[in-house]
Amino acid sequence: MKKTSLLLMSLLLGALSLSAQSKSPIEDMQHYGAEPLRFKSLKEWRKVHRPAIYNFFLTEVYGRQPEQKLPIRYEMLEQSDKALGGKATRKQIAIHVGESQNPILLLIYQPNNARKAVPAFVAMNFKGNHQINVDPEIIISQNAPKGKELGSDPARGAATSRWPLEMIVDAGYAVATIYRGDVDPDFDDGFQNGIHPLFYRDGQSKPAADEWGTISAWAWGLSRVMDYIEKDKSIDQKRVAVVGHSRLGKTALWTAALDERFAISISNDSGCGGAALSIRKMGETVAKINKSFPHWFCDNYNKYSDNEEALKVDQQGLIALIAPRPVYVASAELDAWADPEGEFLSALNASPVYELYGRKGLAIDKMPALSTPSQEGDVAYHIRPGKHDITSYDWSQYIRFANKYFK
Ligand code: GCU
Repeated sequence: MKKTSLLLMSLLLGALSLSAQSKSPIEDMQHYGAEPLRFKSLKEWRKVHRPAIYNFFLTEVYGRQPEQKLPIRYEMLEQSDKALGGKATRKQIAIHVGESQNPILLLIYQPNNARKAVPAFVAMNFKGNHQINVDPEIIISQNAPKGKELGSDPARGAATSRWPLEMIVDAGYAVATIYRGDVDPDFDDGFQNGIHPLFYRDGQSKPAADEWGTISAWAWGLSRVMDYIEKDKSIDQKRVAVVGHSRLGKTALWTAALDERFAISISNDSGCGGAALSIRKMGETVAKINKSFPHWFCDNYNKYSDNEEALKVDQQGLIALIAPRPVYVASAELDAWADPEGEFLSALNASPVYELYGRKGLAIDKMPALSTPSQEGDVAYHIRPGKHDITSYDWSQYIRFANKYFK
């Protein structure tokens, strides 16, 4: 061979191997779309498909949490067994992250007179711990809405209807909650506040395209609640459900996908970027959510705005990542923005993965009538009348479902 053709050949080979190297695993990944996730064996799911789907959600949707660990310190601020008219113990714990002067405040109510460690619901709240109940002892976070909105405490108890604490405690469960704004305030400031900056590498000023947005940050916060529960012997770490409404329902699903210590995950009206299939483009779409909430997902997720067909896997993949642990998906009739049928279809299309584990997925294959929950399988679903909200009806169903596993 002539010298020049040898040179050409080696150049060509070099270019080929370069392009092979730079091809990301996402491009090479199988296209599952929004279809039912049916595979030949559990082994194949665990070896091939689960890692690929996990990596997709990690790097293209919510973004990777940092590997770096910061020292975490739990400080018991207050404890009383006189809460909720004497039936519950209230605990308030400051979770100190690294050098931050801005702790995450954890509020717990748990039943008195329990003979052994109790199961728990872990849930994030929207506007501050003090809004979940009128209890005057609840410490108001320094990050909670201030000024007029708070005034001389008018917001205390404002979200009581979403937190039927007595019902939950009477059922034998603890409730552990933190305020989303203590972990990462819910607005786009280029990731300068909240926990993101605590983890920046030298010279870094915002997360990379595949690194965590706010939903992943909230999920990180919920995992720190689980770390606390592991230390508190009065709560049973093996019987903890993570539950969330709406944007916090998206977070509840992603938290359980990331952190296998959560035994059950409950998505209440989580919609786009949560349980709903994106490909349907009903109600909120990927483009709309990325525009209104540019901080929720990682930067890579913008690739899918008005381009849902390119999603290698849809949100049924997120539910499948939680298998074989039980998942509950719930919708509200008037919540078209969250696409109830799309939420149902995700639960259905994730179900074959549960069957690979010898579990039962969703027990029905058509949308049920209103207020007719399907809880026979390890994937449950209900749709209730009314609007986008989390109500005591929803909670009563979650308790019934959790009882199946925890009691
Ligand atoms: C908006 C948003 C939804 C979100 C909801 C909520 O409606 O578009 O994606 O679920 O807020 O968190 O209440």
